[in-house]
Amino acid sequence: MKYLLCLISLAFVLSCNSNTKDNAKQEEKSEMKVYDMYEPSEMAILMNEFYAINEKIKADILAGNTPEEFPLDFMKIHRAELSDFKKRNAKFEAFSKLYIEAEKEVFNTESSFPVEERFNNAIGVCISCHQTECTGPIPRIKKLLIK
Ligand code: HEC
Repeated sequence: MKYLLCLISLAFVLSCNSNTKDNAKQEEKSEMKVYDMYEPSEMAILMNEFYAINEKIKADILAGNTPEEFPLDFMKIHRAELSDFKKRNAKFEAFSKLYIEAEKEVFNTESSFPVEERFNNAIGVCISCHQTECTGPIPRIKKLLIK
C-alpha cells in the first residue's frame, strides 16, 4: 500500500518518487519542476530546510568546529503537515524521534564518539526513514554524509 502511495505521489509530486532505476534523473527533474507544478507541503519545505541546516553543520565540522547549538527547527518534524496523500503513522513517529535523538547527539559536547560519526549517524536516520517512506531523495541525502 505504501509503495502504491509513493507511486501515486510520483505521479503528482515528482519530489516523492519511488525506487525506480533512474532515481538520479528523476531527482534532477524534481528539483527543477516541483515548485512550479505544486505547492510543496509544510513537511517538504521543512525537509529542504533540514537539508540546508545539515549542509551547514557538515561544513562546520569539516572546518574543525564543534557544533554547539541544537537547531530548534528540527523539532518541527513532530508537527509539520505532510502532503495530503500521506499520513503520519507509527513508523514515521518512531523515525522522527530517532532522528531528533541522533541530531541531539551531534551537539552533545560530552560525547566520546567522534563528531563525524555522530553526524553521519543522524544522516543515516534521514536515509532509514526515507527507505520506508519515499526513496526518491535518498541519493541527494547521501551527499550529506562525511566521507
Ligand atoms: C521521520 C521520517 C523522515 C525523516 C527522519 C527525514 N525525512 Fe525527509 N521526507 C520524509 C517524508 C515523508 C517526505 C515527503 C514529505 C511530503 O511530501 O509531505 C520527505 C521529503 C524529503 C525531501 C523532499 C522535499 C521536497 O522538496 O519535496 C528531502 C530533500 C528530504 N526529505 C530530506 C531529508 C533530510 C536531509 C533528512 C535528514 C536531515 C530527512 N529528510 C529526514 C520523511 C523523513
